[in-house]
Amino acid sequence: MTPPVAVVHPAGSDEVEVPDGLDLLRRGGDLVARLEAERSSGRVVGLVPTMGALHAGHRALISRAASECDVTVVTVFVNPLQFGDAGDLATYPRTLATDLAVARAAGASVVFAPEVVEMYPSYPEPPATSVSVAGISDRWEGAWRPGHFDGVATVVAKLFALAGRCRAYFGEKDYQQLAVVRRLASDLSFPVEVVSCPIVREPDGLALSSRNVRLGPDERQAATALWRGLEAGARALAKGERRPESVAAAVSDEVEREPLAQLEYAALVRADDLEPAATVDGGPLRLLVAARVGSVRLIDNVDPQDEDLVRCCRRHDDGASHERPVATGPQGKGGV
Ligand code: PAJ
Repeated sequence: MTPPVAVVHPAGSDEVEVPDGLDLLRRGGDLVARLEAERSSGRVVGLVPTMGALHAGHRALISRAASECDVTVVTVFVNPLQFGDAGDLATYPRTLATDLAVARAAGASVVFAPEVVEMYPSYPEPPATSVSVAGISDRWEGAWRPGHFDGVATVVAKLFALAGRCRAYFGEKDYQQLAVVRRLASDLSFPVEVVSCPIVREPDGLALSSRNVRLGPDERQAATALWRGLEAGARALAKGERRPESVAAAVSDEVEREPLAQLEYAALVRADDLEPAATVDGGPLRLLVAARVGSVRLIDNVDPQDEDLVRCCRRHDDGASHERPVATGPQGKGGV
């Protein structure tokens, strides 16, 4: 393989190494032209929107896209519109050179990494047009991070508009975001098939996240409280608990036992519209949790009726050693 070449960003001053076989695009117009050309040669486009700092969770999305599509584009853009907290935006990890290598190794052939002014020419003034997905954006993350989903919906709508007809891959890690994006694609008639991918976890259950690098050693240990809470909720359900609020309380109790964690919410919701579940028998469910560990905000969720998870919780109850459910682990379905 020939060594990577250094290129100057057309839209920026930084230099970055671009691996062989990968194209780095900085302009929206270049992305449009490239993907139109790919489609006119009969190729199916896979799109993986990210904010960079790529980890095994992102890699799983990219490899899945690469296995199902002819050309895979990873977008790397830290979208200022979706950050309420300027400190969080300023400290969000930015690792483009590594991201290019990771994206290429996972099967991407294009990375689209625009500058902020390329996406939002009026920046720091917000764009005049923004996208808001009513209802599904309101609770949970929407309530704790006002304006967050408008920022997500606006950037995703722009990425869908630039990408054109494609399959777009999103992780269940951000379960509410996935629901918002599905609704957005349908309501605005984007020719995009939204594909969901399972959560990739550390061996101790912590869901991979770009923010995990900000956890100190004690906080990293404490962060497993979210997964333990979700397991406790799934276990309560498997043992026959019928009251949705008691299932959610099993999650909160476990998280609140951890002194370094500050619970924000725990809820048992209907999987399709994320409304609080009125009953445990009314169709697919999702168990959601959010907590702060030190200064780091973490979210996680599970399908509490997932057979692998339930089996794992039962074994745990019987005193057997803890084992991650196969479907959600790094080697699980859609894993790396
Ligand atoms: P980001 O947090 O970089 O995540 C990009 C994609 O990776 C999302 O679809 C997210 O759900 C998925 N992902 C993150 N961690 C994962 C894990 N542990 N397992 C599986 N998938 C995981 O989500 C965003 O960026 C942004 O909001 C974006 C959609 C790009 C809009 O700016």
